[in-house]
Amino acid sequence: MFALVPPTLLLAASLVNGQASSVSSAAAAGSASSASAPPAGGAASGTGAAAPGTWGPEITTAPTGAPAGYSIGTPSPDAPGVLARFPNGPTNPEKPEFYPIGAQVNQTSLSRLLSLNGVDDFCLYGPMEPGPDSLIGNVEPSVVSYCTQPRNGARLIPDGTIHSAHVIKTPMYVQIHGFWDGTRVNIPAGDSGGELDPHGEKNLGNPIGGNVTTNLATGTDTFYEEWMSFISYDQFCLRICTAGTDKVNAGLMCEHKLDIMGCRFVMAIPDLYSSNGTFTFCEGEPAAPPGLYPLPNGEYSTFRQRWTDKANPPQYTVGDLVTPGAPAFWPKTSNCQTFSSISNGIDPANFLVKNAPTVHVSGTGSAAAVTGLSTTTPATVTTPSSTIAIPTSGKSDAAGSSSGSAAGTASRSGQSGAPSGGAGSGALALAPISALVVVAAVAAALF
Ligand SMILES: *[C@@H]1O[C@H](CO)[C@@H](O)[C@H](O)[C@H]1NC(C)=O
Ligand SMILES: *[C@@H]1O[C@H](CO)[C@@H](O)[C@H](O)[C@H]1NC(C)=O
Ligand SMILES: *[C@@H]1O[C@H](CO)[C@@H](O)[C@H](O)[C@H]1NC(C)=O
Repeated sequence: MFALVPPTLLLAASLVNGQASSVSSAAAAGSASSASAPPAGGAASGTGAAAPGTWGPEITTAPTGAPAGYSIGTPSPDAPGVLARFPNGPTNPEKPEFYPIGAQVNQTSLSRLLSLNGVDDFCLYGPMEPGPDSLIGNVEPSVVSYCTQPRNGARLIPDGTIHSAHVIKTPMYVQIHGFWDGTRVNIPAGDSGGELDPHGEKNLGNPIGGNVTTNLATGTDTFYEEWMSFISYDQFCLRICTAGTDKVNAGLMCEHKLDIMGCRFVMAIPDLYSSNGTFTFCEGEPAAPPGLYPLPNGEYSTFRQRWTDKANPPQYTVGDLVTPGAPAFWPKTSNCQTFSSISNGIDPANFLVKNAPTVHVSGTGSAAAVTGLSTTTPATVTTPSSTIAIPTSGKSDAAGSSSGSAAGTASRSGQSGAPSGGAGSGALALAPISALVVVAAVAAALF
């Protein structure tokens, strides 16, 4: 079970430098809301009592902008591991497309295809069913796609659900973060949520059969191999890695094992908690890879959560007990375009697609804010013949087997995962490799 700490708790933890004591209380609060889940954060509380490490001051602040002299290398979309090379999930449509006009969005769809094409055209995962058993930590392998526009054969995120959305397009990745009412996509109220990625226990993805596309990097819909997403009842973030360099590959830039660190740290969002209520599309420089701190010699020192072996009793800390509270730097953004709201205009009483979707990104004049953005986004959908009121699928067999195995892995991963509920230091550790010693003392001092 991979819990995402509620914003207030995460904020509180960082304000007190992520000291162990604050994390213990965060973890406890997290588990309190997880009545039917495996105890969340139990180990975090246990280790949280330990004294902070002695390797130097914790990284709690970060400069804005990459340090002088730092280079991530030259981003290439052809770098190994960027483009998806294996089959699309069995419950997904072959490609990301809008529903035809006249169709009815299928609110029981098992499509697990996410797209991130703009501030009002993106998808996120949510549980298949409502109810208290649908804590994200319990259902990670079986979550399904919900989209702000009628697309991907997926379910619709009803208008009013998304409270804020901020897209950032960089040469290495595209990402979105925001606040929402996740209860409208079946996330139980108060669920601190979890982390989803293309790996999972069997390396089939969490969810199994989950896939992602964006058209923001190339101008055309493209499937990518590496992505990560945090979702909870009130916040979300999603990063899709669209390039790699000789120094940083897509897997590193979409690092999926920092699953209890949350959106702000992992996706390097300085103003996360003041970003509610607004909608923006920005370009930006790439962040440092999550958990990596550039050193003056061109190398990185590395922070990692300790891998927790499900076969052994959980032990969540090793080495330095202090968890960094900030990434290496907050990436600069530029060319921001602001939108007042987003909407699909679809009546949730019938989910009928009566008109072609209109999307901000393809229709607004401020091309400078969205350079490289596709102008081929099919905002005008094909008018179907009268016999195509509902998209055909023929995928229910595949869907059945997918969710069947999903249920099995859900409980196993719930027991084996990292401690949940603790954004802070108690549950975490700097990996015990020698380079780590210099993280706080050297990296912070020189940059
Ligand atoms: C779909 O996801 C799987 C699991 O992460 C991945 O191996 C595969 O390459 C993806 N395929 C596409 C077309 O995105
Ligand atoms: C909606 O999706 C489910 C799951 O894929 C499928 O079984 C069902 O037939 C779909 N409904 C319609 C009306 O297409
Ligand atoms: C974001 O703003 C909406 C609308 O004002 C509000 O309902 C919601 O609670 C806010 N979310 C958070 C996490 O503060």
